[in-house]
Amino acid sequence: MLERKAIRRMAALRLLQVAAIALAVVLLWAIFMRVDAGNDAGLPPGEELPDGQAPGVRRQDDGTIKVGLTMDTLQEERWIKDQEMFGEAVKALGAEFIVMTADSDDAKQIEQAETLIGMGVDILVVVPHDAEAAATIVNKAHAAGIKVLSYDRLVRNADVDLYVSFDNERVGELQAEAITKRVPAGKYVYIGGPETDYNAHLVKKGVFNVLQPYIDRGEITIVFDQWTRDWQPANARDNMRIALEANEGRIDAVIAGNDGTAGGAIEALAEWGLAGQVPVAGQDAELAAAQRIVAGTQTMTVYKPIRQLAEVAAELAVKMAKGETPRADRLVNNGKLDVPSVLLTPIAVNADNIDETIIADGFHAREEVYKHIER
Ligand code: BGC
Repeated sequence: MLERKAIRRMAALRLLQVAAIALAVVLLWAIFMRVDAGNDAGLPPGEELPDGQAPGVRRQDDGTIKVGLTMDTLQEERWIKDQEMFGEAVKALGAEFIVMTADSDDAKQIEQAETLIGMGVDILVVVPHDAEAAATIVNKAHAAGIKVLSYDRLVRNADVDLYVSFDNERVGELQAEAITKRVPAGKYVYIGGPETDYNAHLVKKGVFNVLQPYIDRGEITIVFDQWTRDWQPANARDNMRIALEANEGRIDAVIAGNDGTAGGAIEALAEWGLAGQVPVAGQDAELAAAQRIVAGTQTMTVYKPIRQLAEVAAELAVKMAKGETPRADRLVNNGKLDVPSVLLTPIAVNADNIDETIIADGFHAREEVYKHIER
């Protein structure tokens, strides 16, 4: 009897021991799993995950929006402003700004875009060097789930998400309207931008929208019409020299793709003693162009308020990065699709309105513009 009691007690004790060990094992396992859950999420042991957040899906960053900008060049004065003002606007919206510049090299621009994608940007903003080559950038960004904003220049034949620029066709119209007012008949030279920049095509289209009726009536003759490689002023000067030689200096007006190429053309005109005699149009309202306008060697420029462009683009880029649909006011076809676009208004500037436009706007200081003028 006694023996049976002892056996039962021992069995009960054994059961208790097994239960205690099992409990300890379960507890240890639970503790281990909890720590491990933290590690899966990239957390130090013991660190808590925010409520409702599944392990393994924690954002790698702190949630700050990253805006990547890939630029073609800083050759023209305007791009320095674009870079600064766009960066400022992005940061003012609480986002991070990363910028790279490709120095007019397509392979470099594609590589830099890949780097930005690899850095985890939430939106890629592109100023393409070559409108067609940059389609690769759009495709790569999209493959990584990143939207693309075409800044100032349109990327062609790719699924661009948004295009923000000035009305480039209007830029050309403003140039031709100003020059035909001065020279309604005669020999015209057209010094365009590069064929690789779609803006150069749009601006040229605008110029010829205005010139064509004059050409059709036989009042204006285009005696020279060339693209300018990479917007190089030296290339524009060389082309203008050819135009002058071919026409023995008898040129009545020049329309150039921008102020840099206008500057090149004016250099060639100066070699023939014609600077200030032949009206010349440009665009960008560069300081050197503003100085030439008040000095009388350049007739007009087209002012594109860069701060407006930078601020609108930054606002819409951050919206897109957050997954919101940006507003657009029109569609522009890029060869593949109608791209939602925002096009800002350019302003014609000549010696008469320079004070109330670019100077009043603080784009250039008055004393800088009139620096070389004796008063
Ligand atoms: C821009 C001009 C600029 C030119 C050269 C064009 O695409 O619209 O403002 O002068 O590129 O960089």
